[in-house]
Amino acid sequence: MGRLEGKTALITGSARGLGAAIAERFAEQGAEVIINDLNLAQAQITAKRLGGHALACDVSDSKAVATMFGECAKLVDKLDILVCNAGISGLEGDNDARERIRITAENTFKQARGEPVEDIDANLSSTTTLSDEDWHKMIGVHMNGTFFCCREALKLMQAKGSGSIINMGSVMGTFGRGGSTHYCAAKAGILGFTRSLAHEVAEQNIRVNAIAPGWIHTDMTDPLEPMHPILSAQTPQGRLGDPDDIAHAAVYLASEEAKFMTGQTLSPNGGWYMSQ
Ligand SMILES: NC(=O)c1ccc[n+]([C@@H]2O[C@H](COP(=O)([O-])OP(=O)(O)OC[C@H]3O[C@@H](n4cnc5c(N)ncnc54)[C@H](O)[C@@H]3O)[C@@H](O)[C@H]2O)c1
Repeated sequence: MGRLEGKTALITGSARGLGAAIAERFAEQGAEVIINDLNLAQAQITAKRLGGHALACDVSDSKAVATMFGECAKLVDKLDILVCNAGISGLEGDNDARERIRITAENTFKQARGEPVEDIDANLSSTTTLSDEDWHKMIGVHMNGTFFCCREALKLMQAKGSGSIINMGSVMGTFGRGGSTHYCAAKAGILGFTRSLAHEVAEQNIRVNAIAPGWIHTDMTDPLEPMHPILSAQTPQGRLGDPDDIAHAAVYLASEEAKFMTGQTLSPNGGWYMSQ
C-alpha cells in the first residue's frame, strides 16, 4: 500500500520541474494528483502521464485561484494535500542572463586565484536597478500565490477536518544572496507565513510545513549553468540536487509519517546551508 493511498493532492506549478517530480512521487504512492500551472498544455501532458487532472491558473491572481479551487472541489470530493510550489526566478525572458552569469562565474574564478576583479555583483541585477514591476511580480507569484492557495485550500480541509500543506521556500529565504533581494524576501516571507499558519490551524488537524531546497537542476536553474561548478564546489556533497531529492521530502511531509511535524522547514541542500 502506498504512503499516500486514498489521498488527493493539488500541486501548483507542477507541469515541470520540482512540482512535476513531487506530483510523480505522490502518484506513485497512491495519491490522486491535480496539476496546476500557468501552462495548461504542459500541465495536461504531466497530468495524463500521472493519471491525474490539470487545472490552469495564475496563482498570483486571487480570483483565478478561488475559481481553480472551485473546479478542484468538483473533481475530487476532498482535498488532503496542497503543495504551493509555483515560482519564478526573475530571469524568465531575460536573454542576457546567461552571459551576465558567465561573467560573474569568471570573476569568481579570478577572485579564487587572487586576481583582481571589478565589482563581483555588478553583472547580476541589484536592488538599485530592480523595478517596481519586477518586485511586485516576484512577491505576487510567491507570497500572494502561497497565501491565496492556502486560504482556499484551508476551506476545503477545514470542512473535512484534516490536511497537510507544504509551501516551497528556498535556502535563499534564510541564507540570503546579493543580486536577488526580491526572491530572497519572497522566500523568507513564505517561511514566516508557514510557521504562523501552522500555529493557527494546528488544532484543526491541519499541518503546514515548508521545504527550502538548495540548488537543484531544473529549467529554472538552467541559466545559472556557468555557476554550476562553483555551486557544486560550495556544496559539501559536491553536487547540485535532483528534483527527486525534493520530491521525497514532500512525500514524507505529506504522509502520516510526519504527523508530529508542523511549522517546520526541511532543507535538502547537500550541506550547502546547515542550520538548527
Ligand atoms: N530549482 C531550484 O534550485 C530551486 C531551489 C529553491 C527553491 N526552488 C523553488 O521551487 C519551486 C519550483 O522551482 P523549479 O526549479 O521547479 O522551477 P521551474 O521554472 O522549472 O518550474 C516552475 C513552474 O511554475 C510555473 N509557474 C510559474 N509562475 C506561475 C504562476 N504564477 N502560476 C502558476 N504556475 C506558475 C511555471 O510555468 C513552471 O511550470 C519554485 O517555487 C522555486 O522558487 C527551486
